[in-house]
Amino acid sequence: MTGRLFLLTVQFAMLLSGCEMDLSKENRLSTSKFGEMPDGRDITKYTITNKSGSSIEVINLGGIIVSINLPDLEGNMGDIVLGYDNVTQYLQESPYMGAIVGRYANRIANGKFSIDNEEYTLAQNNAPNALHGGLEGFDKKVWSASPFETNENAGVILSLISEDGDQGYPGSLKVEVTYTFDDQNQLTVDYKATTDKSTVINISQHSYFNLNGHNSGQIGDHEMMINANHYTPINDTLIPTGEIARVENTPMDFRKAKPINEDINTDFKQLEYGLGYDHNWVLNQDEFSQAAKVYAPKSGRIMEIYTDQPGIQFYSGNFIDGMSYGKDNFAYAKRGGFCLETQHFPDSPNHKNFPSTLLIPSETFESKTVFKFSVRQ
Ligand code: GLA
Repeated sequence: MTGRLFLLTVQFAMLLSGCEMDLSKENRLSTSKFGEMPDGRDITKYTITNKSGSSIEVINLGGIIVSINLPDLEGNMGDIVLGYDNVTQYLQESPYMGAIVGRYANRIANGKFSIDNEEYTLAQNNAPNALHGGLEGFDKKVWSASPFETNENAGVILSLISEDGDQGYPGSLKVEVTYTFDDQNQLTVDYKATTDKSTVINISQHSYFNLNGHNSGQIGDHEMMINANHYTPINDTLIPTGEIARVENTPMDFRKAKPINEDINTDFKQLEYGLGYDHNWVLNQDEFSQAAKVYAPKSGRIMEIYTDQPGIQFYSGNFIDGMSYGKDNFAYAKRGGFCLETQHFPDSPNHKNFPSTLLIPSETFESKTVFKFSVRQ
């Protein structure tokens, strides 16, 4: 049974029964073929459905979340992440939609950094900088996947070995990313990595959200709160200058929720450099806590993000250009989706005053981000 058919069946059964499904652990998870890599390897789709009929779909290419289906305030299901229907588009034209980005999410200036006086050179795939792990970052790798189900949730453990020298990074890095979707409409992303040689790591989830539905137009009306008094200003190639600046009295102030488009067109150098918002906010807490909350008045959907990471990149989808036709043959327009990427700060290896992204062989990198979805009545 395909994922979509499975979901429809669950929703239909719920309609008939008029109440919540009692999902035993056997039917929370279904798998189907999503497509094939150019070399013939199969790409599998994992559909995880919870008690209320909400679901997420994940593929083992790039750890990509291809859909998140949730009710709106009238109970209508809608898919709230942008994406594609096939492997080819994910490989050839996707701006990291739904993917796990790494080994180093975000930018490294001029594709260069040093560890213990040894300089490493990365592809300048976002000239003049390195972006999201390189030409074949984690978003383009086929991950090993092992699905699991319990009585409360279900998910997929994705794993990968990024060899020593992969994309220019030192050390053979073992990475594990676990997606868990539960009955409270919470999607938990757990990250884990170890290396056999000192390296840098910054890993994130790059879903583009539109809480009104992936095919509903622009996200300017979404009300956003970011729990940060500071952000890291950038230069004209989107690399942090190193300054930790206050958000107060600037369009970067999201401490109180405001619509994304409220200040986005303000005459402010940072917004000119980013063509809108494309910055890292310095989260007020560095332990696991709420980083951001977004509310879409039209659909009533709410997304809260909790993380233990020190930063979050809010990208308002400024480079989406309407040229790319996504799921349901819908053309995604500029600002048709936004990303909130929990992370360490961009270009940390070149900024001593930023929290370190160094991973040494005796340590394990571990991190958790939770996306909690609900509806305001
Ligand atoms: C990140 C970056 C953006 C852009 C997108 C992908 O969010 O910060 O500048 O490169 O990825 O298009």
